[in-house]
Order: sequence, then C-alpha cells, then structure tokens
Amino acid sequence: MSPPVLELRKLTRHYPTPAGPVIAVHEMDLIVAKGDFIALLGPSGCGKSSLLNLLGCLDRPSSGELLIDGIPVSSLDDDGLARLRNQKIGFVFQHYHLLPRMSALRNVELPMMYAGVSPEQRRERALQGLERVHLSHRLDHTPSMLSGGESQRVAIARALVMNPSLVLADEPTGNLDTRTGEEIMQLFELIHRDGTTLVMVTHSPEMAERATRILRLRDGRIESET
Ligand SMILES: Nc1ncnc2c1ncn2[C@@H]1O[C@H](COP(=O)(O)OP(=O)(O)OP(=O)(O)O)[C@@H](O)[C@H]1O
Ligand SMILES: [Mg+2]
Repeated sequence: MSPPVLELRKLTRHYPTPAGPVIAVHEMDLIVAKGDFIALLGPSGCGKSSLLNLLGCLDRPSSGELLIDGIPVSSLDDDGLARLRNQKIGFVFQHYHLLPRMSALRNVELPMMYAGVSPEQRRERALQGLERVHLSHRLDHTPSMLSGGESQRVAIARALVMNPSLVLADEPTGNLDTRTGEEIMQLFELIHRDGTTLVMVTHSPEMAERATRILRLRDGRIESET
C-alpha cells in the first residue's frame, strides 16, 4: 500500500519575536490521503498560511515531523527539499506570484526548466497546461496584460505542469470577484476529479463546502473536522 500524501506528527512552528515565541502551528497531527480535497478554515492569525508553508516545504518546522509521500522532510538538505518541492508540490497563491517579465507560456515552463525538461517537451507541456485552463489565446501575454482570473489560471497551469502529488492553495479566490472566483473553484473541482490531492485555505464557508474534508483551525490547532 502506498503511504499517505501527507503525514503530520506533532508538527509545530514557533516564530521567535522580541516579545517571545509566537506559536503559529501547535503539535498538529493529520493524515492526508491521495485524492483528498481539504479546506482549511479559521480566523485570521490561526495559522493557516504557516501550516501551508510547512506542508509545501517553504518553511521548516520547529519540532515534530512531516512526511510527504512517506519521505520525512527532516531527512532532506536544502537541495533535496527544493527537488521535492519541484517534483511533488504545486502552489497557488492569492496574489498569483507570476514572474512579471515573462509571458504566460514562459511562466508555465519555469518549473520544468528547474527540472531539466527539454525545451521541446517544456513547450509542448506548457501549451497543453494552458489549454486545460482555457488560455490558449493568451500565451504571449505578460502578467500585467492578464486579468486576475486569467493570472490565477496561469498560476494553476504552472502548479500542475509537473504532475505534483499535492496542490496547495492559499486563498486562491481571495483576490477575485464572485463570478471569477467561481470559475477558479470549478477548475479546482476538475483537478480534484482527475485525482490530484488538494489543500486549500479559504475564508469562505461556501468555498470550503466544495472540499471533501473541512478542517477548522484555531490558535494553531485543528479544532474540528467535518
Ligand atoms: N514571520 C513571522 N514572525 C512572527 N510571527 C509570525 C510570522 N508569520 C506569522 N506569524 C504569526 O503567526 C500566527 C499565524 O499566522 P498565519 O499567517 O499563519 O495566519 P493565517 O491563519 O494565515 O491568517 P490570515 O487568515 O490573516 O491569512 C499569527 O499570530 C501571526 O502573527
Ligand atoms: Mg494567511
């Protein structure tokens, strides 16, 4: 049997501050199985982004352990961590985080450049990825020429292009109007139906309802699951 996509064992993150440590994530235990679609809900400051940054290996825990596809993250050095991030994890952020001087096509090619994929393959897969998010007519647009919804679709294509085990999204519709946000949610549902494991932070209980598991966080802990 294959290991879970994510396993958290007393995962903890403290931030040192002059006023003493802030406990953002407190001894969290959780198992995320392949194909789960998890929504993280909770008040501002409860640790949602801190948790997502740990899950995506953008940050390291203060204590506890995180396993991704059975691999203990603590066993990896910085290069190993960067490789794991590139190959197993796709990120979608509220503010898109696209590279401003690059076209939509180049932005989607980028993770494959880091992975050493050949230029022909890169182009082919980026074209397919942008077609999947209905952006074949915007290949040469740079981010400043794209609408918010289009930018987020480029970011989603970029997140998916390496076929990651896990897609993490931090308030992916937080910057979008209701209708555009709905389009992005439909895209996530499609991605989920295709078998991708998703963890999405949201402030909206309606958006959270679209997930298969809803976790409510409070003060760095999982308060409840529905
Ligand atoms: N780099 C940091 N240094 C010190 N404290 C931090 C740092 N980053 C976050 N915190 C604190 O950790 C706690 C959790 O923050 P986090 O950003 O994870 O919350 P959040 O649930 O994502 O909130 P929001 O809904 O507003 O985005 C907060 O109390 C925050 O002030
Ligand atoms: Mg946040």
